[in-house]
Amino acid sequence: MLRFMTAGETHGKQLTVIVDGVPAGLKISAPEINADLARRQQGYGRGERMKIEKDRVEIVSGVRLGETIGSPIALVIKNLDWENWGTLMGADHAKLSDKYLQLRPRPGHADLAGVLKYNRKDIRDILERSSARETAARVAAGAICKKLLGEFDIHIYSYVTSIGGVMADIPALPAQKLAALAEKSALRTPDYHAEKKMIETINNAQRDGDTLGGTFTVTADGVPVGLGSHAQWDRKIDASIARQLMSIQAIKGVEFGLGFGFASRAGSAAHDEIFYSSKDGYSRATNNAGGIEGGMTNGQPVVVSCVMKPIPSLRRPLRSVNIRTRKPAIAEAVRSDVCAVPAAAIVGEAAVAFEVADACTQKFGGDSMHEMMNNFKAYGAQVRNYRP
Ligand SMILES: Cc1cc2nc3c(=O)[nH]c(=O)nc-3n(C[C@H](O)[C@H](O)[C@H](O)COP(=O)(O)O)c2cc1C
Repeated sequence: MLRFMTAGETHGKQLTVIVDGVPAGLKISAPEINADLARRQQGYGRGERMKIEKDRVEIVSGVRLGETIGSPIALVIKNLDWENWGTLMGADHAKLSDKYLQLRPRPGHADLAGVLKYNRKDIRDILERSSARETAARVAAGAICKKLLGEFDIHIYSYVTSIGGVMADIPALPAQKLAALAEKSALRTPDYHAEKKMIETINNAQRDGDTLGGTFTVTADGVPVGLGSHAQWDRKIDASIARQLMSIQAIKGVEFGLGFGFASRAGSAAHDEIFYSSKDGYSRATNNAGGIEGGMTNGQPVVVSCVMKPIPSLRRPLRSVNIRTRKPAIAEAVRSDVCAVPAAAIVGEAAVAFEVADACTQKFGGDSMHEMMNNFKAYGAQVRNYRP
């Protein structure tokens, strides 16, 4: 079983992530993880922070001479502007002047619920951890999971499908091709015509002190049949992928395949008919199910889409209440992105990579890559030869 846990505040010293359960013998290097960290920092509409931070990971345990050794992998990403924040964010006891207190909670953020729940006098105690800076740690963990999946020829792709109501027209191409087009786009979309309108919409939002959300799709290609299980609710892989994606900051909805589109279709036009050929085995002509039936992967690509709400920190802040005076106030204005949907898509890749990698380690087990690969091959032969 794979597990990961992150620690770290946005303006703290560093982000830390521990990934446990990766088999021994997986080749991994810091530059491979850094490549994904850099992808998370891209996208038109990002804030100043992206210019300060050029995220770099340090592998501090679990990897020796370029290979995992079966022990927990610990990764560290230093926050480069820590020296400007040490006084405000340090662990040592210090008396801070009241002028540093954040007292006006931002609608759409963890601020108000957080101070009430944790009984804090400063909203900073909440916002430092609830902020999406933490997603850099998730992306680092996801990069290790992608590397593991690559050994089984499973690949994770993403692209943006809409921003601020501007819809991309997604051509009927394999996910790999769509993602290759997206990789060259400032907004991670394969539709360069829509990209222009999206940029315009972001510019307008920026001018108005406003923010935008949107949608993106993540695909896992090459996933074998039978990851997850129909047999128990907490083993259903669509449920675990959805939970992982829903835990990403600002993600408000997840759908597999046709998703909400199923609502208006008759069954005959909804479900993916089954075919067989001796060359290719079982196949489908459509993938409305998004590669999952009954909580198990069905051998088709796993296709999952997410909606991201507009960024809740506004340059023209919304109405709020001062938690000390209880008088009306406008919310704190915090340095922020105008739109972060392309970045969220990269975090989405990490989320899907983690869950698919976890399902693989559960299904194929093994303390070493060698053992896991042997189990994977034996299972592949069993599926190919299956005939009751
Ligand atoms: C990649 C990414 C970047 C984000 N950047 C910002 C930001 O700059 N400012 C902001 O207020 N929220 C940003 N968010 C969203 C907030 O972190 C999120 O809305 C907030 O923590 C509340 O959580 P919830 O929306 O899941 O309820 C970002 C989210 C993601 C995934």
